[in-house]
Amino acid sequence: MKLVVLAWFVLAVTAVKHELFKTCAQLGFCTRQRHYANHVSTSHYAIDLKSISISTDKVEAQLIKKWPGHLIAFPISIHGIVGNQLRVIIDEDRSLAQGETGLVNPRRYNETGKWAFNGGEVETQAFKLAKVQKNQLVIEYGEHLRAEIDLAQFVINFFYDSQLELSVNENNYLNIEHWREEDEADEDGNLMAEELDFDLFLDSFKDLAADLVPVGPELVALDFQFKNHHHLYGIPEHSDQFRLPLTKGGDPFRLYNVDIFEYETSSRLPMYGLIPFVIAPGKLSIGVFWVNAADTWVDIDYNDDGSHTHFMLENGVVDFIVTIEPKVADVNRQYGKVVGNTMLPPLFLLGYHQCRWNYNDEADVLDINSKFDEHGIPYDSIWLDVEYADRKHYFTWQEDKFPNPGRMARKLDRTGRHLVVIIDPHLATGYFASDELIEDGLEMKNSKGETFKGHCWPGELVWVDTLNPKGRAFWAFQYQRFLSNYTTKNVHFWNDMNEPSVFDGPETTAPKDNLHFGNWEHRSIHNIYGLTLHEATYLTINDGDERPFILTRLYYAGSQRTAAMWFGDNLPTWEHLRTLVLMLLTHNVVNYPFVGVDIGGFFGDPLPELLTRWFQTSIFYPFMRQHAHLDTRRREPWVAGGVYTDAMRNAIRLRYSMLPIWYTAFHQLALTGVPVVKPMFYEVNDDAVMEIEDQFFVGDLGIMAKPVMNAGAEKVKMYIPQGQHKYIDYINGEFGLLVKVYQPGSTVTIDAPITSTPMVVRQGLAFFRKRRYRRLTRLMAQDPYTLTIVVDDNGDAHGRLYIDDGHLFSYKQGEFLELEVTATALAITVDVVSQDSSDANYLAQLAAMVEIDQIQVVLASGFADVSLVSADSGADTHYVIDGLVMTITAHHPISQSMTLKISRDVVDEL
Ligand code: NOJ
Repeated sequence: MKLVVLAWFVLAVTAVKHELFKTCAQLGFCTRQRHYANHVSTSHYAIDLKSISISTDKVEAQLIKKWPGHLIAFPISIHGIVGNQLRVIIDEDRSLAQGETGLVNPRRYNETGKWAFNGGEVETQAFKLAKVQKNQLVIEYGEHLRAEIDLAQFVINFFYDSQLELSVNENNYLNIEHWREEDEADEDGNLMAEELDFDLFLDSFKDLAADLVPVGPELVALDFQFKNHHHLYGIPEHSDQFRLPLTKGGDPFRLYNVDIFEYETSSRLPMYGLIPFVIAPGKLSIGVFWVNAADTWVDIDYNDDGSHTHFMLENGVVDFIVTIEPKVADVNRQYGKVVGNTMLPPLFLLGYHQCRWNYNDEADVLDINSKFDEHGIPYDSIWLDVEYADRKHYFTWQEDKFPNPGRMARKLDRTGRHLVVIIDPHLATGYFASDELIEDGLEMKNSKGETFKGHCWPGELVWVDTLNPKGRAFWAFQYQRFLSNYTTKNVHFWNDMNEPSVFDGPETTAPKDNLHFGNWEHRSIHNIYGLTLHEATYLTINDGDERPFILTRLYYAGSQRTAAMWFGDNLPTWEHLRTLVLMLLTHNVVNYPFVGVDIGGFFGDPLPELLTRWFQTSIFYPFMRQHAHLDTRRREPWVAGGVYTDAMRNAIRLRYSMLPIWYTAFHQLALTGVPVVKPMFYEVNDDAVMEIEDQFFVGDLGIMAKPVMNAGAEKVKMYIPQGQHKYIDYINGEFGLLVKVYQPGSTVTIDAPITSTPMVVRQGLAFFRKRRYRRLTRLMAQDPYTLTIVVDDNGDAHGRLYIDDGHLFSYKQGEFLELEVTATALAITVDVVSQDSSDANYLAQLAAMVEIDQIQVVLASGFADVSLVSADSGADTHYVIDGLVMTITAHHPISQSMTLKISRDVVDEL
């Protein structure tokens, strides 16, 4: 009872402060563009035929905005880019604005790609053909792809073979507010009939600091009609449904990084990070990526013709990339060629992490560290929140509590554990780091070009401007000086509050008219500021030897290359548990799978049942960390005790035993951008699965999980996809004594008491696990692998394993191994398919240390008379058959190929 009351109290006082954030109606450009979209009926934009110039991978022209008495030209360019993608950029010639914008750079900001794209730019790809033909510009590119641009209306139609897939500007929503001065507004106010003049030259929202919008109205907007695609996903971060809901009658989704304190579910409010990438899976799949870091709003609509998005941005250029591919995973692959893929993390990051605000002192840290071992619970790192630093002055320590941080790091290192400390981008005024920053003039400036000061945890603060190369060098120097006190390599960083969070700033962040390097307004770069910061941290600590680690709260497209992220300050409710799984899926489909969540909720105290279920769910998060607010009670997995602790322990152990699956999936992710947690529609192209949001695949397609996310639930219903394959019950990673087989296209009920994590495995999948309990990942390095092969009705199965040392970059020089498993009715083969021979030593070491010691063949009793004919290694190979499972005991060195021949006759249909 007491607990229930307390939980109620916590939730009753925690609620997002809506009044802090603008609605579309309170924001000039959003209101103006929605009004424009409601009134426009004809296109005001056309490409000037005479201006077109065509080269091998680029078309350039002038796009003319016209209405009675006005003709304004915007340079447009269309580019063939890597991965059969097309990029369209529309800029503005601002020479008239030169000298008229005060301190502000008069150009439209067009450098978002410099930060978002891998290596800062994107590779071009020649068109197959580009020509003007009957008032159309026709571009053929990639395989099967054609864009037809109607010159008079400026509508771009994208075809795959002869099928129309995407229409851009079909609704005439294209709108670019051209440069004008406030006092030059002529009679029509430089406005078309469809335009409003609401807040053109000031922002009337009641913020503390008025935004005078010094450059005036600059919005860009455009619409995209996805033909015959009735499901849209992406544009995180929102705590809302997985399939993007339509926004009619409410606000659009907003993409603007803010510190959203105590956020709600079913919300389109902006959150900490964002990726302006929409994905429409289907018979053919489409991706649209907006490359612009300004305040962005997106309306979503579904209609008979498919689905529709309307992008509205405060300023900057129109810049978008279209990808059309047969499979949704191929859209991830191609988009990944532009923004880069997730780094291959050190293996320890895929283990379990323990954090709270705060572990109080060295003794506390070391005590928690040893308690994990006492309770037999694996974990890999312990984290320190802001209180470790002297008065929250980052790059310092509270000396009375942490008298010798280097010693503490060494003690942790001796047990194999890592230490992660938080460093925020704000520096309190009046200590060495902020003094140095201001002295060097590398801080973010206000609209007058003076030092910008605001408030966050430590009081009055300044912010480093990491858009400035010298700002990044300053940031690097602070870390290097800080790290020089450590002899071990187990210290890592967490960059929080980097939206940036400004407690007394408009909408909890920096004023839009603040200034950055290059005299760019914060308005233009807001959404990438935090990326420039966490990337600078990564580059600083990357010594090219150990793989570095950063956790960031802000993210933008491209953040995945250098940082993991988590979903910020969530609540201890079932609703949050469920919603954050939807967000997990969303981030996977937009190439940012490396996400985590505060297990149990950041605020308040979860009841043991919720906490246990949250642990069981979180073993399916790529990044698995518990964290909680300063005012919460301790909740490490042993605190609840009894059956709850047992269940949490088992869940974490299950996660560790599945690390070979995760690591192999991360390796694929690093190479291809294909998600590690896959929504159902990655496996089956069947409308029935498009909206299934609470079950998903982990790793390669085949292991499907459905966490229990409802109070008191003891069963889950799982949909088994249509197709040829049956699925086998794999609850808690076990097949059970009576192997249960589920038929395709059925909905099955699975018992799931509090001790259970429901999973199933598809026939035809082979995978590896390490099943011995170890205290942490490093100690698992030499453990043997269990190979599990779930054969289909023909005896076939297939699977993969990737191995390297788990922490160095040496895999890039060839120190890795990839195995491929193929089972047929007659044999099981494990082939070493890829290895770089540059280090034979590494392979020899692996062979000497690591073996496959057990092979489980599941559904083996579907075959009569199983006998092992030969095994070309491990003469002492034995097997037993128990029900449907054949277990072969082997001692096979992992770096050598092997074949096991099996004679069997197919009998019963299962
Ligand atoms: C906000 C973060 O979201 C939270 O995780 C952290 O504990 C606090 N900042 C204090 O640093």
